[in-house]
Amino acid sequence: MDRLLVTNIGVLATPAGTAAKRGAAQGEVRTLRDAWVMIEDGVIASVGTGQPEAAPGARVLDAGGRLATPGLVDAHTHLIFGGWRQDELALKLKGVPYLDILAQGGGILSTVRATRAASQEELADKARLALDEMLAFGTTTCEAKSGYGLDTETELRQLRAIRALNKSHPIDLVPTFLGAHALPEAYKEDRAAYIRLLCEEMIPAVAAEKLADFCDVFCETGVFTAEESRTILEAGKKYGLRPKLHADEIDPIGGSRLAGEIGAVSAEHLIVCPQDGIASMARGGTTACLLPATSFYLGAAYAPARAMVDAGVPVALATDFNPGSCPCLNMQLVMSLGCLKYRLTPEEVLTAVTLNGAAAIGLADRTGSAEPGKWGDLVLWEAGDLNYITYRLGSNLVHTVIKRGIPYQGGNKNVQAS
Ligand code: NIG
Ligand code: FE
Repeated sequence: MDRLLVTNIGVLATPAGTAAKRGAAQGEVRTLRDAWVMIEDGVIASVGTGQPEAAPGARVLDAGGRLATPGLVDAHTHLIFGGWRQDELALKLKGVPYLDILAQGGGILSTVRATRAASQEELADKARLALDEMLAFGTTTCEAKSGYGLDTETELRQLRAIRALNKSHPIDLVPTFLGAHALPEAYKEDRAAYIRLLCEEMIPAVAAEKLADFCDVFCETGVFTAEESRTILEAGKKYGLRPKLHADEIDPIGGSRLAGEIGAVSAEHLIVCPQDGIASMARGGTTACLLPATSFYLGAAYAPARAMVDAGVPVALATDFNPGSCPCLNMQLVMSLGCLKYRLTPEEVLTAVTLNGAAAIGLADRTGSAEPGKWGDLVLWEAGDLNYITYRLGSNLVHTVIKRGIPYQGGNKNVQAS
């Protein structure tokens, strides 16, 4: 048996449990001083304080009195894509709106062209670099969406790239089918035909190869209506794909209401989420997966996170890493924005990027907290307490990332600890 004993942890800060935390419980973080964690065959076997139990044959990692938290869970990324879109920044600065760029055949559709032109290996090689960077910033589990193929062959190729990376990269990946990310140019005059293609060809093909856990739809003006989204997500459900939804990002066209009604595992963005959408998500047990770096990058408003916590909706925070609306994969920046822009406490933010993130991708029983039975996923920080992480805007404070019991060096060896 492989054993790793992490000793001399100054403070171990972790939420507890195997389900999303809502309301006041989102801010309840357990802090153990002078702690240790024993990881056996990649899974946490025991956690304690003071003198660790005898551990013959175990490798010992001295945390040097540092803060430890669970590994970060990035519950919303568009990891697999061809090319980048740096030229859109200039258009953005001229004031061209995001949906106008899309309507003119740019935006998501320009990434679709680059993705269709790339092989599975090229897509995986490019994404591997992003995953390496994510790991260095403390991410140990990450969701990855398709959605830049918009045809059966390329959507399957994206999902197969995710499957290959999940086997070869330390970060655990959760695949989501997002064939309903935009209307492909060839179907502009016949939306119904694309929706049929999604429901009758793509979803069955994805399910036949077991390539995705979730089905997602971009429910937005000019993309898919709430009723179209319902049709697609119901078709996904029939094939065992659990529903997720890009909802209320730019226009409130009923996405959050729909998410609650169909029992979506999560609804994402929610920048302009109305009160009845919040109530619907609370009733449906839907986790709100909020993406503050996207608001920052688009110069948009920030989702009503505090109202969601107060209404009993579990809140997760993620990057939305993608080549258009958020080319950022740094969960530490997301954590700072969670405090500064959503007015969440550092404790609420920690739960949002660990346990609630895990719940948003169906993994709350496997990761998201430092407790026996969970994966041995920890971050050792160049920080003495949680407040310091959310406070040091823009720095990489990771010292070491431990993924399923294997330690990886973090990003910045010269960073000044609190
Ligand atoms: O989550 N909103 C829709 N999809 C992505 C953006 C994708 C892109 O611009 O390429 C998002 O922000
Ligand atoms: Fe997204």
